[in-house]
Amino acid sequence: MSRYSRIIGWGMYVPERVLTNEELSRMVDTSDEWIRTRTGIRERRIVNGPSETTATLAERAARAALDKAGLPATALDMIIVSTSSPEHLFPATACIVQDALGATRAGAYDLSAACSGFVYALAMAHGLIVSEQADTVMVIGAETLSRLVNWQDRNTCVLFGDGAGAIILQASETPGGVLATVLGSDGSGAHLLSLPAGGSRKPPSFETLRNGDHYIHMDGKAVFRFATRVMAEATREVVEKAGLTLDDIALIIPHQANIRIIETSVVRQLHFPWERVFVNLDRYGNTSTASIPIALTEAVEAGRLQPGDYAVLVGFGAGLTWAAALIQWGPEVPEVTWWQRLWWHVLWYRWSRLRSLYRRVRRRVFAFYFRGREQVEQWRFTSPPSPDGKEKQGEE
Ligand SMILES: CC(C)(COP(=O)(O)OP(=O)(O)OC[C@H]1O[C@@H](n2cnc3c(N)ncnc32)[C@H](O)[C@@H]1OP(=O)(O)O)[C@@H](O)C(=O)NCCC(=O)NCCS
Repeated sequence: MSRYSRIIGWGMYVPERVLTNEELSRMVDTSDEWIRTRTGIRERRIVNGPSETTATLAERAARAALDKAGLPATALDMIIVSTSSPEHLFPATACIVQDALGATRAGAYDLSAACSGFVYALAMAHGLIVSEQADTVMVIGAETLSRLVNWQDRNTCVLFGDGAGAIILQASETPGGVLATVLGSDGSGAHLLSLPAGGSRKPPSFETLRNGDHYIHMDGKAVFRFATRVMAEATREVVEKAGLTLDDIALIIPHQANIRIIETSVVRQLHFPWERVFVNLDRYGNTSTASIPIALTEAVEAGRLQPGDYAVLVGFGAGLTWAAALIQWGPEVPEVTWWQRLWWHVLWYRWSRLRSLYRRVRRRVFAFYFRGREQVEQWRFTSPPSPDGKEKQGEE
């Protein structure tokens, strides 16, 4: 019996704070006209204050996807968070989301493939399902790139926005869902789009701060040329791999980086009609790995995908990477009932927070009891600087 992976839930979340081109033109030497004509972007959403982070956006999108699927968080076997702006280098943002959702049965890990990351994660989730390692997998794309751009660099700060999108894939015996994927990379172009400092190669120092190496660096023209080439190639390849033609495709959902990239690659090179391309970058800018799941959610909500329709999700990004997936949209799934919503939102998610708090406190108590007060102090996430100037080697 063949096993398929079908999308049974989808959701998105974007911060409330809107940053318009007009506002940006008061921050750097740019104009609404330049940004609109060169990129197609009119405004973007950005996180507001320390309480909004990649994990909180991801959690909101994940809850919306669970609602849509009518599933409790405990049904998830795996959570994959694709992000280039994780909460920390480690632990994985996915683990923080797992804890917040109360997904007590789920494994969790982050995936880093920049703007292609969501489609990479979708391919990984599909692989887990068809190889019978998991039945139900949550795939999230989430970013807070506003925290990584230099707000004085007009070459990059006008492009990016924050947001999150999520889908749930589930095993099924009915044909459909993810039918083909194409994943590619070319590390010789790694320097074209990068965040040079903060990793093991260039740990943070006064020098990296002074040079602005902890901000996004990009060769826009080179990325543009690469993007227009691989988007068309990856789309063609994935359609062929699924045994279909472009005429069979109801909708292409491209990575929302720049309207001119979409125009050149999808419309001109593939001769694909505009009416069957989904675009929302004018309202959100480039939300990196979150752009495709956000666009997918909006496309479904707008009725642009009907059961049985074939769609291509295609992206490109730092790495350099590119990825495409061909999906067949599944049957409608039931909306969650009011009492399920009440149980999950009012009780389960609150209970999960309490449960998490209880586990943290319990660890502290155990540590205090078995190891003594001094070591308990060491296990804070951000250890305070030690008075003697020596680094503390804290571990949980
Ligand atoms: C970044 C991008 C919009 C620039 O558009 P472009 O048409 O290539 O513009 P150029 O790089 O030729 O710049 C033209 C001029 O505009 C200037 N410029 C750059 N950003 C500007 C801004 N925000 N406002 C006004 N002028 C700007 C440049 O300094 C340059 O001036 P110069 O000719 O005096 O040197 C475009 O290259 C792009 O979208 N690249 C892909 C980036 C991307 O998608 N990255 C994410 C990948 S996931």
